[in-house]
Amino acid sequence: MDPTPTPGRLITLEGGDGAGKSTQAALLAARLRAAGVEVVETREPGGTPLGQEIRRLLVTPGGDPPVVRAELLLYLADRAQHVARVVAPALARGAWVVCDRFVDSTIAYQGAGRGLDEAEVTALCRLATGGVWPDLTLWLALDPALAARRRAGRGGADRMELEGIAFQERLVAAFARLAAAEPGRWREVAADGDVETVAAKLWAAVADRFPAVAG
Ligand code: TMP
Repeated sequence: MDPTPTPGRLITLEGGDGAGKSTQAALLAARLRAAGVEVVETREPGGTPLGQEIRRLLVTPGGDPPVVRAELLLYLADRAQHVARVVAPALARGAWVVCDRFVDSTIAYQGAGRGLDEAEVTALCRLATGGVWPDLTLWLALDPALAARRRAGRGGADRMELEGIAFQERLVAAFARLAAAEPGRWREVAADGDVETVAAKLWAAVADRFPAVAG
């Protein structure tokens, strides 16, 4: 008889723009694979073909920018499609999903950042995901001024990145508050070190939350 499959786990990476999430998501996925876990590495917005189109509408500056409520609903449409097509099937077969941004980005950006009611945004996130929620959320915490310098070196700022330092400071405060409210799910990792140092800290956080996978 086949062994009982490892239950799927959803690990999300969160943080402001320029915190290095994408690089770290790839490194974390590789490390989990090396530990023998099936990993689906994905992102929001843009983790499905429909999501790619929604992402373009959301991040490209200019044109007819969405009003705040339209912006929220576009992120949620991306998420509903992504959970149904990618995340939920992976979890159902026992895979681990490493997702670059998820519900907490919406709570931070559209709630604290744009000023929408946090409880309403959270309830709509649950509607969009059908209740799928992260098992572990890794917050890559970075001083907004340092993050801005990193982004300046990269060029091609998207619509959110053009919001300025006060917006990024509201995000940091929101992530800090969310992390403090749910310490079982959240781990904060300082993102100001070099790539290897941050990756090691993230792995320690994963091992702390899921001792079995760390061996
Ligand atoms: P990315 O650059 O991390 O891929 O994300 C694109 C932008 O979308 C980023 O500035 C954060 C923003 N965002 C929201 O405002 N709300 C959300 O729900 C998500 C997932 C991302």
